[in-house]
Amino acid sequence: MMDEASLRSEMVRLARSLFERGFSVGTAGNISVRLENGLLMTPTNSSLGALEADRISRLDDKGNLVSGDKPSKEVFLHRAFYQTRPQAGAVVHLHSTFATALSCLEDTDPNDCIPPITPYVVMRVGKVRLLPYEPPGDEAMGDHIRNLNGDAAAVLLANHGPVVSGKDLHSAVYAAEELEETAKLLVTLRGQKVRHLNNAQVDELSRRFSDMK
Ligand code: 13P
Repeated sequence: MMDEASLRSEMVRLARSLFERGFSVGTAGNISVRLENGLLMTPTNSSLGALEADRISRLDDKGNLVSGDKPSKEVFLHRAFYQTRPQAGAVVHLHSTFATALSCLEDTDPNDCIPPITPYVVMRVGKVRLLPYEPPGDEAMGDHIRNLNGDAAAVLLANHGPVVSGKDLHSAVYAAEELEETAKLLVTLRGQKVRHLNNAQVDELSRRFSDMK
């Protein structure tokens, strides 16, 4: 595992990269990384394009602020992933356009929001569940995530946006990007006959690339 100083500077670098490529606008989105005894979390109302390493919030394992600025209001949501997915080392929440579009569509399948149309979304993201709408920062979202019992590495929050966990910071960011690009394909392909990967192809990918999430 990277040391805390390197994690902080990677959070700044990757967050800025997401912002500069339009995956996040304004102060939307937040990122956390699990530490041995707590987590690092982007501060509330901060732009992912302008984080400062020494102002990133550090929380203890009970969620109390130890140092840095006030943490994201979505800290409940991030902690719920860590509580239910021991393999999760980082969590990324975005309001990226196409994943958020899918989270608003009436006919998005709540048990499988991102069907397997390309290998990388299977390898990096897996099955994505839709969770009911709650206002941003509402603790109820933590309960919805805990109710999944760790079965999904990624979810869409209805009418809000995607949340993606990964084994480490880089995996979580890459998975959030892959999810957004796949959502863009799905919206682009709406109304057309689309060939999905079949169950055997999905199973083979999950077996061969089980270490990517
Ligand atoms: P924070 O600024 O508190 O992280 O909230 C931003 C956000 O994306 C809410 O969903």
